[in-house]
Amino acid sequence: MKDAAPETIYLKDYTPFGYQIESVHLTFRLHPTATRVISKIAFAPNPEATDKRFFLHGEELSLISAKINGEAITPRPVEGGLEADVPEGPFVWEAEVEISPETNTALEGLYMSSGMYCTQCEAEGFRKITYYPDRPDVMATFTVRIEGDQPVMLSNGNPLTSGEGFVEWHDPWPKPSYLFALVAGNLVNHPDRFTTQSGRDVELNIWVRPGDEGKCAFGMQALKDAMAWDEKTYGREYDLDIFNIVAVDDFNMGAMENKGLNVFNSSCVLASKETSTDANFERIEGIIAHEYFHNWTGNRITCRDWFQLCLKEGLTVYRDQMFSGDMRSHAVKRIEEVLQLRARQFREDNGPLAHPVRPESFVEINNFYTATVYEKGAEIIGMLRRLVGDEAYRKGCDLYFERHDGQAVTIEDWLKAFEDVTGRDLAQFKQWYSQAGTPRLKMSEAWNDGTLTLTFAQSTPPTPGQSEKKPQVIPIAVGLIGPNGDEVVPTTVLEMTEAEQSFTFEGLGARPVASVLRDFSAPVILEREMDDDTRAFLLAHDTDPFQKWEMGRMLTKDMLVAMITADVPPAETALDAIKTVLTDESLDPAFRALVLGLPSEDDLAQTIFDAGQTPDPAKIHAARKSLRHALALHVSDVLPTLGRQLETPVFVPDADGSGKRALRHALLALETLLDDGKAARALFARADNMSDQSASLQALLAAGLGQDEIKAFEKQWKNDRLVMDKWFMMQVSFAAPDKAASTALALTQHPDFTIKNPNRFRAVFGALAGNHAGFHAADGKAYQLLANYLIELDKINPQTTARMSGAFETWKRYDADRQGMIRSELERILATPELSRDTTEMVTRILSA
Ligand code: BES
Ligand code: ZN
Repeated sequence: MKDAAPETIYLKDYTPFGYQIESVHLTFRLHPTATRVISKIAFAPNPEATDKRFFLHGEELSLISAKINGEAITPRPVEGGLEADVPEGPFVWEAEVEISPETNTALEGLYMSSGMYCTQCEAEGFRKITYYPDRPDVMATFTVRIEGDQPVMLSNGNPLTSGEGFVEWHDPWPKPSYLFALVAGNLVNHPDRFTTQSGRDVELNIWVRPGDEGKCAFGMQALKDAMAWDEKTYGREYDLDIFNIVAVDDFNMGAMENKGLNVFNSSCVLASKETSTDANFERIEGIIAHEYFHNWTGNRITCRDWFQLCLKEGLTVYRDQMFSGDMRSHAVKRIEEVLQLRARQFREDNGPLAHPVRPESFVEINNFYTATVYEKGAEIIGMLRRLVGDEAYRKGCDLYFERHDGQAVTIEDWLKAFEDVTGRDLAQFKQWYSQAGTPRLKMSEAWNDGTLTLTFAQSTPPTPGQSEKKPQVIPIAVGLIGPNGDEVVPTTVLEMTEAEQSFTFEGLGARPVASVLRDFSAPVILEREMDDDTRAFLLAHDTDPFQKWEMGRMLTKDMLVAMITADVPPAETALDAIKTVLTDESLDPAFRALVLGLPSEDDLAQTIFDAGQTPDPAKIHAARKSLRHALALHVSDVLPTLGRQLETPVFVPDADGSGKRALRHALLALETLLDDGKAARALFARADNMSDQSASLQALLAAGLGQDEIKAFEKQWKNDRLVMDKWFMMQVSFAAPDKAASTALALTQHPDFTIKNPNRFRAVFGALAGNHAGFHAADGKAYQLLANYLIELDKINPQTTARMSGAFETWKRYDADRQGMIRSELERILATPELSRDTTEMVTRILSA
């Protein structure tokens, strides 16, 4: 049935389903356009439920037959599924449906990718496979029979039996339908084994298309590291005989944690030094861990309803962040997290799409897999841990796992475990889940005879649907640095609960400098008067690596804002301070690379807007370019020696190697502005790994050079899809502002461009949206081009279209002309006949700004 007006779902309306499921048996008879799915489901009344309506979700299914207790019935079709009259007691439901994986371009449900059958069920895709109560609070054990001629046929759980043309799988752990998975195709595996802490032997496999076997070793090592880490850090052990990972080319997201059968976007698992950058390796390690960690935080204990999404995602992101910190460097990882949080989540919180970490309503749940749910959700776990301490955090987690194993639960259940182990009342803390917007924290200081008083005032700007904001619990980690540069008070966590609150440090000799919000202890915007000399002092002396970096960032950001809004030249204090860090060999090269990185154009636009002015994208771009040039000149004398020190003769994608390369590449980008591309061309010519190859090419493109190298790169990599994604992306990302739209348009005419593959679409259009000055070029061509392609893509893939429409979320920052152009593009999208519910919701919310 076709949707009428899209319905809004509310958290407050939650009611349990009227029936429980004892067991599910599914048989798949695979066929590209006519797959049969035969289901046999044992239902029993749910004693906890009052509503006994028997409704099963189902979308785009052809019902062949249905039975209850063996007798044929004719169910009533209703909006989004079907209804039937059922007996009072337990009963068995059977149905046969037909579906067409080959024509499923939405990549949700059962679909085909490079000739292979695969599924994506989260959040509500299982209803495109068969009729079912497709909601996370209905958990059941699944037995799956796959009939077909594919060499490899996989599903969740342990293998049961197999024979000519069929296999059977059984998953003993009750799970919601969104964790169901099936994969079938001509696949080869990279096998390994893992012995768990209790001695269980687990078979591990990464399944890939023939030819990709050589790109699995790194992912496999990451998996084993993640398994060992979860045992050591959380006491969580794997619980099946086999763990399978499959790489698929066409995937809307990064990866999916289906029980025992994780499905990955091939870009998030395949790795080799020739084809993957250091950033790719780091991402692959993190995402493999993330999906593995869901086995406990998400699968064994799942969400009662989709409003609780942060229960599994925020917590699992927090867990993968800690894992990556342990594997690499906590300091570097934390800075990268904050960069990402500010770029994505603060941006979201500041615009029309702002919503609480636990939203109260949605139209399409796929639109709520957001930076807020994920990243602010993870920050909340970090704050909780800071407030209760490491030991109580672990105890609370243990209690949560013990109490709720096998259940579908809520944020309240999660917090209750911590209240019970600590005796604390977390009622005010819980507001972090319900209040949208980024709190502003204004700080002032007073010094009086050996006592330093820090006074904080918190306020949160209004967000859509929430005008009144209450004070939150904010953990503020503070340390004090004496005038000689020594730390006089080590990190202490101040617990702010009031709208305004003061904290004193007594018995101090001389007036110290406060280092505030160490390790970014809360996701807030700290507002504090500080001159450049004090910043340079903390940049030199702070013991907290995050704050040390933050001081460099504030120096460069203020300098850039002044260059943009007041036409002043770069400040010497700031340039000197950066150079000092750059040449300080006691510091980790990865950290030095981060200090050298300038705030993004998007970040600067937001900052200028927050200061009450209208950002001019062209001016921002020009100022950033001129600062890069000034910086290059300022450090030109040290470039050759530094470059030599940072050589990494053997490529190892670990923290040390990638850190050295990050700094070397940052320096190369500066050098390229001075030497007409000589050094970059030389590195490009001799590069034996993708990090060096792409960094040298990007340095050239950013300097307006590199056209020969772009051709050579294409020639070398035309048969490797993942590397070609980089080729598409780089050209658009580094196109000059007046060339971005035309470059993207030209690339859409390339024979290898296709809107059917989300990675390829994102390579071109994600890059266009991310090229700030290019996207916001005054002629509006980029807005138009993106809108054209969103309208096209929506017909085949609503989920990715809706996600990409977020490119327009910041439109209210800009001048009237740009706003007018964006508004008319958004209205044009909205006026498209049969626009998906996904895109309709997003564009409507963006327009309502
Ligand atoms: N459960 C999600 C995948 C997902 C997202 C399925 C949205 C359906 C709709 C998975 O665990 C996830 O969060 N993946 C992230 C990467 C992760 C490292 C944050 C992704 O795919 O981007
Ligand atoms: Zn996840």
